[in-house]
Amino acid sequence: MIDLMNKTDSRLLSDNVNINGEGHLTFAGHDTVALAKEHGTPLYLLDEKRIRERCRTYKNAMREAFGEGSQPLFASKSLSFRRIYEIMAEEGMGTDIVSAGELHTAKIAGFPMENAYFHGNNKTDEDIAFAIDSGIGYFVCDNIEELRAIDRAAAERGTVQNILLRITPGIDPHTLAKINTGKVDSKFGAAIETGQAAKITGQALALPCIKLCGFHCHIGSQIFEVEPFLDAARIMLSFAAEMQSIYGFVTEKINLGGGMGVRYLPEHPAIDYAKNIAEIGRVIKDTCAELGIEQPDILMEPGRSIVADAGMTLYTAGTLKEISGFRTYVSVDGGMADNPRYALYEAPYTVMLANRATEKCDTVCTVAGRCCESGDLIQEGVALPRPRRGDTVAVLTTGAYNFSMASNYNRLPRPPVVMLDGDRCYVAVRRETFEDLVRNDM
Ligand code: LLP
Repeated sequence: MIDLMNKTDSRLLSDNVNINGEGHLTFAGHDTVALAKEHGTPLYLLDEKRIRERCRTYKNAMREAFGEGSQPLFASKSLSFRRIYEIMAEEGMGTDIVSAGELHTAKIAGFPMENAYFHGNNKTDEDIAFAIDSGIGYFVCDNIEELRAIDRAAAERGTVQNILLRITPGIDPHTLAKINTGKVDSKFGAAIETGQAAKITGQALALPCIKLCGFHCHIGSQIFEVEPFLDAARIMLSFAAEMQSIYGFVTEKINLGGGMGVRYLPEHPAIDYAKNIAEIGRVIKDTCAELGIEQPDILMEPGRSIVADAGMTLYTAGTLKEISGFRTYVSVDGGMADNPRYALYEAPYTVMLANRATEKCDTVCTVAGRCCESGDLIQEGVALPRPRRGDTVAVLTTGAYNFSMASNYNRLPRPPVVMLDGDRCYVAVRRETFEDLVRNDM
């Protein structure tokens, strides 16, 4: 069992997580038990300073490794609400958006649209029109039908639209199958291997109201190794060189997507993002020299690695159910509606009792949600001090793909997002009310 009583507790995954003199878990310097009392549970917490630090890590490392034209784009599918786009704009980040809803949110936050990239494998005509009329910087085009639809919409408006083409480089990184997207058999993009990528490049170059600026790939998510990114960079540059020799097309931008991993468990490595980026930079420089091409501007699209460890979710423990010979369930007042990732991917998380953070962990628990569904679990096999009704349960590293994947299943109101910024804390998204739940019911 885990011996706590000191700050070497391996469950404190990141330096923004700690334990104070009262034995309470702290996050970004704030007592989580006090926050739970003040704001209620379930509660999403976000460490604003951490988010800004990560943006700067990417920006500085990318400038160093790839030069001035490089830019990190925040993959806002990982965390999307108005304030986050304001922070991204203040940090000089670009953004990746995947729907008109994300675009609208970025727009009302005053995010500069020229730095927004519109993704997705099935943009509707309405999406395309809305994005062009909003002044979207780039579409990341997925297929020929979409290219034609964008060309038509741009022609109607008398403009020429910048695009990148999404290419599948055929890489299979070691990550969860459902979040692995760079393989040939993927609903995303055009594969190099099948010749489709070269074909769609020719088609894009032939359309009058489209300006092809370069190529995009995204090989997957929660990847710990740097090698798949080095492979992706080499493959994308070779493809760019080939397009130059076939069509005389000079690639301005290559976007290497997102995907760098984060620590959900003590046994996960802490990734040095700046070091990875420097390594990718060296490979890009060498590969361009070998291929005899100009180095394009390099973009990356981190989501998880910007926001995941800037987040924590707090719950209140309810029922403890011991099923002799099987297991002990502790149920919390949230679940798959605010964090569907265990139900979807069996995603690992570190769970602690925030109000008893230094107590001996003598009970192995399954942490269950409150939804009417047996798969509604937050985590299995978690060692905790024997939980009691009213305990504050903390789930670490929930900044990415939690709030953004939340639902109202079982008509549970979505929790608020409280931002911690130094001594200050403020509500960035308020808790949903019952009134919100029935707002659209006619
Ligand atoms: N760019 C593109 C085109 C993407 O599809 C994604 C993620 C990213 C960037 C950002 O990847 P990141 O840096 O966050 O790994 N819901 C899943 C993750 C799905 C990721 C989808 N695409 C999860 O909860 O793990």
